[in-house]
Amino acid sequence: MTVKLHLFVAFLMFSTYYLTEVYSLVEFTNVQCENMDKDFALVEYCYLKSVNRSYKYVSIKVNLLKPPITKVKVRLALYKRLNGYKPFLYDLTVDACRFLKYPKSNPVALFFYNCFKEYSNMNHTCPFDHDIVLDKMSYHSINNKFTKVLAFPEGNYMFEMDWIAYDINRVITKLYFSLS
Ligand SMILES: *[C@@H]1O[C@H](CO)[C@@H](O)[C@H](O)[C@H]1NC(C)=O
Repeated sequence: MTVKLHLFVAFLMFSTYYLTEVYSLVEFTNVQCENMDKDFALVEYCYLKSVNRSYKYVSIKVNLLKPPITKVKVRLALYKRLNGYKPFLYDLTVDACRFLKYPKSNPVALFFYNCFKEYSNMNHTCPFDHDIVLDKMSYHSINNKFTKVLAFPEGNYMFEMDWIAYDINRVITKLYFSLS
């Protein structure tokens, strides 16, 4: 009887751990791109596609109309939904040219960059003389980072990136996701 009880408790602990690991998930819920300056950069597409229940991806393409671009800053801001989206933990502006040259110089920016770099052609430093593409970014690579490294609270989030060239905000991207 005692042995059975112990086994049962062990089973419960194991399955709780297992289920927590498996179901602690990032899921994209929406993506929006705002074109702030259509003479400079044009959002060609920006969408979230649901292939099936477990596979969704985000694709974005931005045409640069005045290449090459030699000065880029990116504002990274995380929001959590409470009553509306409220700033949450991160709001930083990074010199992208410098960061892409020395990624380890900014661990927070590196964390966010690692989430999407494998899907993006922003894999070199300035200048940028080609369209910027984020191709079929899914959240599988993000899951581990968020849930295991950061242990974020559950809820709905929005991650905003402001693409600032020559100190003018040209494009705003907003990625909405839930953590459950
Ligand atoms: C969802 O779609 C992906 C890509 O087509 C596929 O690999 C995966 O098996 C699908 N999953 C389910 C549950 O249908």
